[in-house]
Amino acid sequence: MAQSSPANASGDLPGRLAGFPPFSQRHLISIADLAQHEIVELLDRAERMIPVSRQERKSLSTLSGKTQINLFFEPSTRTQSSFEIAGKRLGALVVNMSVRTSSVTKGETLIDTAATLNAMRPDVLVVRHSAAGAVELLSQKVGCSVINAGDGAHEHPTQALLDALTIRQHKGRIAGLTVAICGDIANSRVARSNLLLLGALNVRTRVIAPKTLLPAGIEQLATEVFTDMEEGLKGVDVVMMLRLQHERANGKMIPSVREYYRFYGLDAAKLKNAKPDVIVMHPGPMNRGVEIDPAIADGPRSVITDQVEMGVAVRMAVLDALLPDSNGAPR
Ligand code: NCD
Repeated sequence: MAQSSPANASGDLPGRLAGFPPFSQRHLISIADLAQHEIVELLDRAERMIPVSRQERKSLSTLSGKTQINLFFEPSTRTQSSFEIAGKRLGALVVNMSVRTSSVTKGETLIDTAATLNAMRPDVLVVRHSAAGAVELLSQKVGCSVINAGDGAHEHPTQALLDALTIRQHKGRIAGLTVAICGDIANSRVARSNLLLLGALNVRTRVIAPKTLLPAGIEQLATEVFTDMEEGLKGVDVVMMLRLQHERANGKMIPSVREYYRFYGLDAAKLKNAKPDVIVMHPGPMNRGVEIDPAIADGPRSVITDQVEMGVAVRMAVLDALLPDSNGAPR
Protein backbone atom coordinates (compact mmCIF):
# COMPACT_ATOMS: atom_id res chain seq x y z
CA MET A 1 0.00 0.00 0.00
CA ALA A 2 1.18 3.53 -0.74
CA GLN A 3 3.09 5.17 2.09
CA SER A 4 1.65 8.41 3.37
CA SER A 5 3.77 11.40 4.08
CA PRO A 6 3.96 12.70 7.64
CA ALA A 7 1.54 15.37 8.75
CA ASN A 8 3.86 18.25 7.92
CA ALA A 9 7.18 18.88 6.25
CA SER A 10 9.20 18.78 9.49
CA GLY A 11 7.75 15.39 10.37
CA ASP A 12 6.19 16.79 13.55
CA LEU A 13 2.65 15.77 14.15
CA PRO A 14 0.72 18.76 15.39
CA GLY A 15 -2.01 18.44 18.00
CA ARG A 16 -4.56 19.25 15.35
CA LEU A 17 -4.42 18.82 11.59
CA ALA A 18 -3.29 22.02 9.96
CA GLY A 19 -4.67 23.23 6.68
CA PHE A 20 -8.29 22.13 7.02
CA PRO A 21 -11.20 24.53 7.40
CA PRO A 22 -13.53 23.95 10.36
CA PHE A 23 -15.82 21.02 9.57
CA SER A 24 -19.42 22.14 9.12
CA GLN A 25 -21.18 19.09 10.59
CA ARG A 26 -21.77 18.40 14.27
CA HIS A 27 -22.72 14.73 13.86
CA LEU A 28 -21.89 11.94 11.44
CA ILE A 29 -25.10 9.98 11.01
CA SER A 30 -25.29 9.29 7.30
CA ILE A 31 -23.15 9.58 4.18
CA ALA A 32 -26.26 11.08 2.58
CA ASP A 33 -25.78 14.17 4.81
CA LEU A 34 -22.31 14.87 3.39
CA ALA A 35 -21.50 16.97 0.35
CA GLN A 36 -18.88 15.60 -2.05
CA HIS A 37 -16.26 18.09 -0.80
CA GLU A 38 -16.88 16.99 2.81
CA ILE A 39 -16.31 13.34 1.91
CA VAL A 40 -13.07 14.22 0.13
CA GLU A 41 -11.99 16.38 3.06
CA LEU A 42 -12.56 13.54 5.54
CA LEU A 43 -10.50 11.22 3.33
CA ASP A 44 -7.72 13.81 3.11
CA ARG A 45 -7.76 14.24 6.88
CA ALA A 46 -7.69 10.45 7.35
CA GLU A 47 -4.70 10.12 5.02
CA ARG A 48 -2.82 12.51 7.27
CA MET A 49 -3.66 10.33 10.28
CA ILE A 50 -2.17 7.14 8.76
CA PRO A 51 1.44 7.86 9.82
CA VAL A 52 0.40 8.46 13.44
CA SER A 53 -0.42 4.78 13.88
CA ARG A 54 2.76 3.69 12.07
CA GLN A 55 5.18 5.55 14.30
CA GLU A 56 6.65 4.45 17.60
CA ARG A 57 4.69 6.92 19.75
CA LYS A 58 1.18 6.63 18.43
CA SER A 59 -0.36 9.58 20.17
CA LEU A 60 -1.56 13.09 19.54
CA SER A 61 -3.03 15.49 22.07
CA THR A 62 -5.90 16.69 19.89
CA LEU A 63 -8.69 15.38 22.09
CA SER A 64 -6.94 15.76 25.41
CA GLY A 65 -9.53 16.61 28.07
CA LYS A 66 -12.39 15.25 25.95
CA THR A 67 -14.64 12.31 26.84
CA GLN A 68 -15.76 9.80 24.22
CA ILE A 69 -18.41 7.23 25.09
CA ASN A 70 -18.80 4.18 22.85
CA LEU A 71 -22.41 3.04 23.27
CA PHE A 72 -22.92 -0.31 21.56
CA PHE A 73 -26.38 -1.88 21.64
CA GLU A 74 -25.19 -4.57 19.20
CA PRO A 75 -22.12 -6.74 19.59
CA SER A 76 -19.02 -5.52 17.77
CA THR A 77 -15.36 -6.26 18.01
CA ARG A 78 -13.58 -4.45 15.24
CA THR A 79 -15.67 -1.29 15.01
CA GLN A 80 -15.76 -0.72 18.75
CA SER A 81 -12.05 -1.36 19.26
CA SER A 82 -11.23 0.78 16.22
CA PHE A 83 -13.15 3.74 17.68
CA GLU A 84 -11.56 3.11 21.07
CA ILE A 85 -8.04 3.08 19.66
CA ALA A 86 -8.78 6.14 17.50
CA GLY A 87 -10.02 8.14 20.50
CA LYS A 88 -7.12 7.05 22.70
CA ARG A 89 -4.52 7.87 20.04
CA LEU A 90 -5.97 11.39 19.98
CA GLY A 91 -5.72 11.68 23.75
CA ALA A 92 -9.41 11.37 24.67
CA LEU A 93 -10.77 9.59 27.73
CA VAL A 94 -12.68 6.68 26.17
CA VAL A 95 -15.43 4.80 27.98
CA ASN A 96 -16.99 1.66 26.51
CA MET A 97 -20.60 0.84 27.32
CA SER A 98 -22.16 -2.25 25.88
CA VAL A 99 -25.78 -3.26 26.20
CA ARG A 100 -24.91 -6.35 28.17
CA THR A 101 -23.65 -4.24 31.05
CA SER A 102 -26.08 -1.33 30.77
CA SER A 103 -29.48 -0.56 32.28
CA VAL A 104 -31.10 -1.17 28.92
CA THR A 105 -31.27 -4.81 29.91
CA LYS A 106 -33.27 -3.59 32.94
CA GLY A 107 -35.84 -1.93 30.67
CA GLU A 108 -34.40 1.58 30.32
CA THR A 109 -35.32 3.16 27.02
CA LEU A 110 -32.93 4.51 24.43
CA ILE A 111 -33.91 8.08 25.30
CA ASP A 112 -33.43 7.52 29.05
CA THR A 113 -29.99 6.09 28.35
CA ALA A 114 -29.21 9.12 26.19
CA ALA A 115 -30.34 11.54 28.91
CA THR A 116 -28.27 9.74 31.55
CA LEU A 117 -25.14 9.70 29.44
CA ASN A 118 -25.71 13.30 28.39
CA ALA A 119 -25.70 14.37 32.04
CA MET A 120 -22.15 13.01 32.30
CA ARG A 121 -21.19 15.64 29.72
CA PRO A 122 -19.40 13.57 27.10
CA ASP A 123 -18.01 15.35 24.06
CA VAL A 124 -18.86 12.59 21.64
CA LEU A 125 -21.05 9.51 21.61
CA VAL A 126 -20.24 6.69 19.20
CA VAL A 127 -23.43 4.66 18.85
CA ARG A 128 -24.36 1.33 17.30
CA HIS A 129 -27.98 0.13 17.41
CA SER A 130 -29.99 -2.59 15.69
CA ALA A 131 -32.77 -0.17 14.67
CA ALA A 132 -32.41 2.07 11.62
CA GLY A 133 -32.87 5.69 12.71
CA ALA A 134 -32.09 5.09 16.40
CA VAL A 135 -28.75 6.90 16.25
CA GLU A 136 -30.26 9.97 14.61
CA LEU A 137 -33.03 10.04 17.22
CA LEU A 138 -30.43 9.85 19.97
CA SER A 139 -28.44 12.70 18.39
CA GLN A 140 -31.48 14.96 18.79
CA LYS A 141 -31.59 14.30 22.54
CA VAL A 142 -28.00 15.00 23.55
CA GLY A 143 -25.77 18.03 23.66
CA CYS A 144 -22.68 16.46 22.15
CA SER A 145 -21.53 15.14 18.79
CA VAL A 146 -22.86 11.73 17.77
CA ILE A 147 -21.21 9.29 15.37
CA ASN A 148 -23.21 6.48 13.83
CA ALA A 149 -21.28 3.22 14.17
CA GLY A 150 -24.05 1.30 12.38
CA ASP A 151 -27.84 1.57 12.73
CA GLY A 152 -29.77 -1.50 11.59
CA ALA A 153 -29.69 -1.93 7.83
CA HIS A 154 -29.52 1.85 7.34
CA GLU A 155 -25.95 3.24 7.40
CA HIS A 156 -22.41 2.69 8.61
CA PRO A 157 -20.68 5.87 7.42
CA THR A 158 -17.19 5.31 8.85
CA GLN A 159 -17.06 1.88 7.16
CA ALA A 160 -17.73 3.51 3.77
CA LEU A 161 -15.09 6.15 4.46
CA LEU A 162 -12.47 3.55 5.44
CA ASP A 163 -13.32 1.49 2.37
CA ALA A 164 -12.89 4.57 0.17
CA LEU A 165 -9.57 5.40 1.83
CA THR A 166 -8.37 1.82 1.25
CA ILE A 167 -9.34 2.04 -2.43
CA ARG A 168 -7.61 5.41 -2.79
CA GLN A 169 -4.44 4.10 -1.14
CA HIS A 170 -4.29 1.10 -3.49
CA LYS A 171 -5.55 2.61 -6.74
CA GLY A 172 -4.35 6.19 -6.32
CA ARG A 173 -7.84 7.45 -7.19
CA ILE A 174 -11.50 6.68 -6.70
CA ALA A 175 -13.41 8.46 -9.48
CA GLY A 176 -13.82 6.45 -12.66
CA LEU A 177 -13.30 3.03 -11.06
CA THR A 178 -15.82 0.19 -11.27
CA VAL A 179 -16.68 -1.30 -7.88
CA ALA A 180 -18.81 -4.42 -7.38
CA ILE A 181 -20.57 -4.99 -4.05
CA CYS A 182 -21.63 -8.61 -3.70
CA GLY A 183 -23.88 -10.59 -1.41
CA ASP A 184 -26.42 -9.66 1.22
CA ILE A 185 -27.21 -6.17 -0.09
CA ALA A 186 -30.73 -6.15 1.41
CA ASN A 187 -29.54 -6.34 5.01
CA SER A 188 -26.36 -4.36 4.64
CA ARG A 189 -25.76 -0.87 6.04
CA VAL A 190 -22.22 -1.22 4.66
CA ALA A 191 -23.57 -1.60 1.11
CA ARG A 192 -25.91 1.37 1.51
CA SER A 193 -23.25 3.74 2.87
CA ASN A 194 -20.78 2.59 0.23
CA LEU A 195 -23.23 3.06 -2.63
CA LEU A 196 -23.99 6.60 -1.43
CA LEU A 197 -20.32 7.49 -0.99
CA LEU A 198 -19.04 5.89 -4.20
CA GLY A 199 -21.94 7.38 -6.15
CA ALA A 200 -21.03 10.84 -4.83
CA LEU A 201 -17.43 10.30 -6.00
CA ASN A 202 -18.41 9.27 -9.55
CA VAL A 203 -17.66 5.58 -9.24
CA ARG A 204 -19.46 3.06 -11.44
CA THR A 205 -21.15 0.86 -8.83
CA ARG A 206 -22.48 -2.64 -9.38
CA VAL A 207 -24.43 -4.75 -6.94
CA ILE A 208 -24.42 -8.53 -7.34
CA ALA A 209 -26.85 -10.72 -5.37
CA PRO A 210 -29.66 -13.23 -5.68
CA LYS A 211 -33.00 -11.46 -6.16
CA THR A 212 -34.05 -12.29 -2.60
CA LEU A 213 -31.09 -10.31 -1.21
CA LEU A 214 -31.66 -7.20 -3.33
CA PRO A 215 -33.70 -4.45 -1.63
CA ALA A 216 -36.51 -2.65 -3.46
CA GLY A 217 -35.32 0.48 -5.24
CA ILE A 218 -31.67 -0.65 -5.44
CA GLU A 219 -31.42 0.55 -9.06
CA GLN A 220 -31.69 4.11 -7.72
CA LEU A 221 -28.55 3.62 -5.62
CA ALA A 222 -26.36 1.42 -7.85
CA THR A 223 -25.31 2.08 -11.44
CA GLU A 224 -25.92 -1.57 -12.44
CA VAL A 225 -27.64 -4.55 -10.84
CA PHE A 226 -26.61 -8.19 -11.50
CA THR A 227 -27.90 -11.53 -10.29
CA ASP A 228 -25.13 -13.44 -12.10
CA MET A 229 -21.80 -13.09 -10.32
CA GLU A 230 -19.54 -14.01 -13.26
CA GLU A 231 -21.26 -11.32 -15.37
CA GLY A 232 -21.18 -8.74 -12.61
CA LEU A 233 -17.47 -9.20 -11.91
CA LYS A 234 -16.40 -8.63 -15.52
CA GLY A 235 -13.72 -5.93 -15.67
CA VAL A 236 -14.18 -4.59 -12.13
CA ASP A 237 -11.38 -2.78 -10.25
CA VAL A 238 -12.68 -3.55 -6.78
CA VAL A 239 -14.80 -6.37 -5.30
CA MET A 240 -16.45 -5.80 -1.92
CA MET A 241 -17.83 -8.96 -0.39
CA LEU A 242 -20.52 -8.76 2.28
CA ARG A 243 -21.28 -11.07 5.16
CA LEU A 244 -24.44 -13.10 4.89
CA GLN A 245 -26.35 -11.50 7.80
CA HIS A 246 -28.20 -14.37 9.41
CA GLU A 247 -29.26 -12.12 12.33
CA ARG A 248 -31.07 -9.63 10.08
CA ALA A 249 -32.52 -11.97 7.47
CA ASN A 250 -36.15 -12.68 8.25
CA GLY A 251 -36.61 -16.33 7.42
CA LYS A 252 -34.68 -18.13 4.75
CA MET A 253 -33.54 -15.89 1.92
CA ILE A 254 -31.32 -18.52 0.33
CA PRO A 255 -31.98 -22.23 -0.34
CA SER A 256 -28.78 -23.40 1.38
CA VAL A 257 -25.37 -22.10 2.37
CA ARG A 258 -23.76 -24.63 0.01
CA GLU A 259 -25.75 -23.39 -2.94
CA TYR A 260 -25.10 -19.77 -1.96
CA TYR A 261 -21.36 -20.42 -1.95
CA ARG A 262 -21.53 -22.13 -5.33
CA PHE A 263 -23.23 -19.16 -7.01
CA TYR A 264 -22.17 -16.17 -4.90
CA GLY A 265 -19.08 -17.24 -2.96
CA LEU A 266 -15.95 -15.45 -4.21
CA ASP A 267 -13.41 -18.03 -5.41
CA ALA A 268 -10.51 -17.94 -7.85
CA ALA A 269 -12.62 -19.01 -10.83
CA LYS A 270 -15.16 -16.20 -10.38
CA LEU A 271 -12.47 -13.63 -9.55
CA LYS A 272 -10.80 -14.30 -12.95
CA ASN A 273 -13.57 -12.20 -14.50
CA ALA A 274 -12.31 -9.07 -12.73
CA LYS A 275 -9.33 -6.94 -13.81
CA PRO A 276 -5.94 -8.61 -13.09
CA ASP A 277 -5.12 -5.88 -10.55
CA VAL A 278 -8.48 -6.16 -8.78
CA ILE A 279 -8.53 -5.68 -5.01
CA VAL A 280 -10.79 -7.79 -2.77
CA MET A 281 -12.42 -6.21 0.28
CA HIS A 282 -14.62 -7.42 3.14
CA PRO A 283 -15.81 -5.34 6.13
CA GLY A 284 -15.63 -8.33 8.47
CA PRO A 285 -16.58 -10.43 10.24
CA MET A 286 -16.14 -12.97 7.44
CA ASN A 287 -18.01 -16.21 6.98
CA ARG A 288 -15.20 -18.18 5.36
CA GLY A 289 -16.55 -20.72 2.92
CA VAL A 290 -19.95 -18.96 2.79
CA GLU A 291 -19.34 -15.70 0.91
CA ILE A 292 -15.60 -16.03 0.35
CA ASP A 293 -13.04 -18.78 -0.23
CA PRO A 294 -10.40 -18.56 2.54
CA ALA A 295 -7.70 -18.76 -0.17
CA ILE A 296 -9.03 -15.48 -1.63
CA ALA A 297 -9.50 -13.82 1.76
CA ASP A 298 -5.86 -14.53 2.62
CA GLY A 299 -4.54 -14.25 -0.95
CA PRO A 300 -2.51 -11.61 -2.78
CA ARG A 301 -5.52 -9.60 -4.06
CA SER A 302 -7.02 -9.23 -0.56
CA VAL A 303 -6.73 -5.85 1.19
CA ILE A 304 -8.88 -6.84 4.16
CA THR A 305 -6.28 -6.12 6.85
CA ASP A 306 -5.51 -2.76 5.19
CA GLN A 307 -9.19 -1.90 5.65
CA VAL A 308 -8.79 -2.48 9.37
CA GLU A 309 -5.75 -0.19 9.49
CA MET A 310 -7.54 2.51 7.49
CA GLY A 311 -10.46 2.21 9.91
CA VAL A 312 -8.41 3.66 12.74
CA ALA A 313 -7.16 6.54 10.55
CA VAL A 314 -10.68 7.36 9.35
CA ARG A 315 -12.12 7.33 12.86
CA MET A 316 -9.33 9.57 14.13
CA ALA A 317 -10.08 11.94 11.27
CA VAL A 318 -13.82 11.97 11.95
CA LEU A 319 -13.29 12.60 15.68
CA ASP A 320 -10.82 15.37 14.89
CA ALA A 321 -13.18 16.97 12.39
CA LEU A 322 -16.34 16.83 14.51
CA LEU A 323 -15.00 17.97 17.85
CA PRO A 324 -14.36 21.65 18.39
CA ASP A 325 -10.89 22.74 19.34
CA SER A 326 -9.85 22.15 22.93
CA ASN A 327 -9.34 25.90 23.38
CA GLY A 328 -13.04 26.43 22.69
CA ALA A 329 -12.74 27.78 19.16
CA PRO A 330 -16.02 27.42 17.30
CA ARG A 331 -16.41 24.58 14.84
C1 NCD B 1 -20.29 -4.64 9.49
C2 NCD B 1 -21.42 -4.17 10.34
O1 NCD B 1 -21.47 -4.40 11.53
O2 NCD B 1 -22.29 -3.52 9.77
N1 NCD B 1 -19.15 -5.00 10.19
C3 NCD B 1 -18.34 -4.09 10.75
O3 NCD B 1 -18.70 -2.96 10.99
N2 NCD B 1 -17.09 -4.48 10.99
C4 NCD B 1 -20.68 -5.66 8.54
C5 NCD B 1 -21.29 -6.91 9.06
O4 NCD B 1 -21.71 -7.01 10.20
O5 NCD B 1 -21.40 -7.84 8.25
